[in-house]
Amino acid sequence: MPGEAQAGSVPELRLRALEAGDAAEAVRISRRCAEAAAWSEEAYARLREAGCRGWVAQANAETVGFLVARCAADEAEILNLAVVPEVRRRGYATALVQEALREFRGQGVRRVFLEVRASNRGAMAFYEGLGFRGAGRRAGYYQNPREDGVCMALEFPG
Ligand SMILES: CC(C)(COP(=O)(O)OP(=O)(O)OC[C@H]1O[C@@H](n2cnc3c(N)ncnc32)[C@H](O)[C@@H]1OP(=O)(O)O)[C@@H](O)C(=O)NCCC(=O)NCCS
Repeated sequence: MPGEAQAGSVPELRLRALEAGDAAEAVRISRRCAEAAAWSEEAYARLREAGCRGWVAQANAETVGFLVARCAADEAEILNLAVVPEVRRRGYATALVQEALREFRGQGVRRVFLEVRASNRGAMAFYEGLGFRGAGRRAGYYQNPREDGVCMALEFPG
């Protein structure tokens, strides 16, 4: 089926495009992930209208994580990524990011970037493992609580 992928290293995993019908589940998941951005259900339901796209990861038919990104010209930004706490460290987020990177690359993206809270060491280690590197810091970028943002970027070789 178009938009689906199978991640070789996680046998029970199925990846597919995030549809409007996944919006409530995406909100439920992000509420369980303190570090994830808190988007409204409407924001997920209207992703495409906002020029964004998303993927969900399902394990045994249950949605366990999602990724949302925006592409503009030859750049893409990962806007939100979350995997429910019970199934972390099993490769779900890796599969989501790799699927997004594969599609970005196929559509001519050269650079992928994202922002994380400076305290979110787990996410930074995760992204570093996928080849992202620190690309600057924005003082006071986040609110509630106020905190610096660390920008990370991955350049595809030309
Ligand atoms: C960051 C997050 C998406 C990772 O999801 P995940 O499915 O557990 O990630 P993976 O299993 O694919 O991890 C792959 C590798 O990344 C690294 N990694 C992942 N989480 C890590 C952590 N908390 N600390 C250190 N390294 C970590 C490890 O090297 C891991 O491999 P290993 O398990 O063999 O050691 C998840 O912890 C999460 O949802 N966090 C809350 C939301 C968030 O921080 N989102 C990112 C900002 S948008």
